[in-house]
Amino acid sequence: MKYTVMIPAAGSGKRMGAGQNKLFLEIGGQSILYHTIGVFQDDPYCNEIILAVRPDEQPIIQGILEQHGGSKTITFVEGGDERQNSVAACIEAYKGDGIVLVHDAARPFIDLSLIRELVHTAHEKGAAIAAVRAKDTIKIVENSMVKQTLNRERLWMIQTPQAFRYELLKEASEAAIQDNFLGTDESMLVERLGHSVQIVESSYDNVKMTTQEDLALGEILLERRK
Ligand code: C5P
Repeated sequence: MKYTVMIPAAGSGKRMGAGQNKLFLEIGGQSILYHTIGVFQDDPYCNEIILAVRPDEQPIIQGILEQHGGSKTITFVEGGDERQNSVAACIEAYKGDGIVLVHDAARPFIDLSLIRELVHTAHEKGAAIAAVRAKDTIKIVENSMVKQTLNRERLWMIQTPQAFRYELLKEASEAAIQDNFLGTDESMLVERLGHSVQIVESSYDNVKMTTQEDLALGEILLERRK
């Protein structure tokens, strides 16, 4: 089943401490963004790529896209101050319907089988998100004091891609804007409408490149994929 992917790529990457957009840092001699976009460029089921970027970075990103090649329609939109605003700009720009995927540009290690399952599940149920089981015990802490220990059996770590019927995502995004609600993923916006969201079990390889250690891990993951 065909889908369109919306990719927020307009972050500053402060936690990476690279002094530039972390998506331009390289793994295996190519930028993180090159690897992520490449997955969708090479997927025959991906109809269109909508990229939220910072306007001053668009020429660099266009260069990266040309390097990879590919025949997909790529639409650029201007990213916002927060990730959610960048995704909202993609949602606003989209002209079609059907299933859309939201995927962080900073997660290059996704595979096509995960995308297929998410798209299929979102088609059936409206919303489906990639996630892995929490490995560690997770506690709620205030002022360095433990307030509560959560039951690990019920905890999942949420990733992207997140797949939605476009109409549902649009409604959720518009409601969030209306209510001044800022979430940490698109699923939250759909949840607050009272709509159910299905988990699709993903892989621990689907890491978000956030800190320098992740880059070293990325080199290993890329090598293993070859
Ligand atoms: O900072 P973090 O890694 O959580 O960002 C996730 C994704 O959202 C990244 O691909 C980043 O470029 C993007 N982003 C964005 N606009 C922002 C902040 C982050 O497109 N204002």
